Amino acid sequence: MKILVTGGAGFIGSNFIHYWLQHHASDRVVNFDKLTYAGNLENLKAVEKNPHYQFVRGDIGDPEGVAKAMSGVDVVVHFAAESHVDRSILGATPFVLTNVVGTQVVLDAALKAKVQRFHHVSTDEVFGQLPLGSGEAFNEETPYNPRNPYSASKAGSDHLVRAYHATHGLPVTISNTANNYGPYQFPEKLIPLAITNLMEGKPVPVYGDGKYVRDWLYVTDHCRAIDLMLSKGKVGETYCIGGLTQDVNNLTLVKKIIALLGKDESAITFVKDRPGHDRRYAIDWSKAKRELGYQPKHSFDEYLESTVHWYQENQDWWQRVKSGAYQQYYREQYGNR
Ligand code: NAD
Ligand code: TYD
Repeated sequence: MKILVTGGAGFIGSNFIHYWLQHHASDRVVNFDKLTYAGNLENLKAVEKNPHYQFVRGDIGDPEGVAKAMSGVDVVVHFAAESHVDRSILGATPFVLTNVVGTQVVLDAALKAKVQRFHHVSTDEVFGQLPLGSGEAFNEETPYNPRNPYSASKAGSDHLVRAYHATHGLPVTISNTANNYGPYQFPEKLIPLAITNLMEGKPVPVYGDGKYVRDWLYVTDHCRAIDLMLSKGKVGETYCIGGLTQDVNNLTLVKKIIALLGKDESAITFVKDRPGHDRRYAIDWSKAKRELGYQPKHSFDEYLESTVHWYQENQDWWQRVKSGAYQQYYREQYGNR
């Protein structure tokens, strides 16, 4: 089987490529990625000489480049996106161009290539926010109510994917997943930012009162869930994928990281809140459990500890990301192509 992964040089996409080549060693994987600031080929050093892996630099907004990469592809797993809420507040244009228009370009190419499956990776943020302490959780029937430009652009992409199924019969599946964490996450997101700042002796910025709640999904569980959706998921269906069954707020999370690193809580610095900050996310992943046999393999505390260890053992990786040196790697590895 030939699988096209868009955005495979990013955090989840690169973990997915490692996962896929480990579990489906005879498949061929094409990684189509623009290499924005979030794309880092150093994440894929271990597979770059694997004859089953190919990297193609390109923009999902470019119909010609996407059509070329789609040649002979059986399955598309679409990760490519602008993914950081704070950046979308500073400027929404790249979010609409990549997440909405880019997704439409990939959908058109997939339709033309008659792929067997188009899997769209989306977020629980499309559902908006839940009240604190309510015990409610998002599920596949929750109405869309995005509240920031990132989540609005992802909601737009989800609607397009559903429309291509209903109108053109494209065989799609969609996952709306919780906040991911694990190896190779760009240190602008809360968990790697907190770990690396603490290791550098810097403060950890906590927005507002810190009583914001996210559902946390370990990235390898997410990759396994995508594998399950591709093999057992029903065409046209959406699956909500979460990692927790109990609320953990940002302040508690940061304190857990501080304890794991043996640092002092005086590193916590409360800073100005994010505008439109969603209060609480929680996912009811019972459909995925029932229909796909999905469930997280380990507890949050176990995964958080192994994530902290990964950043301790891979200081060179994140220091090169924080200094910007990782962007040299493409030129050294691939020249001016
Ligand atoms: P990321 O920002 O780490 O990586 C995004 C990748 O897409 C990068 O490699 C980037 O170079 C590439 N890209 C961006 N614009 C592109 C374009 N125009 N053409 C081709 N490639 C482009 O993101 P991530 O955290 O790995 O998220 C991957 C997907 O999962 C996104 O669709 C995101 O919305 C979704 N998601 C993420 C989370 C999370 O917690 N990180 C949670 C739920 C859903
Ligand atoms: P983030 O990792 O940006 O993911 P998202 O906004 O997609 O949920 O943020 C996770 C939570 O952490 C969110 O409630 C915002 C908060 N946060 C901070 O308190 N401080 C920070 O420096 C960052 C980046 C996020």
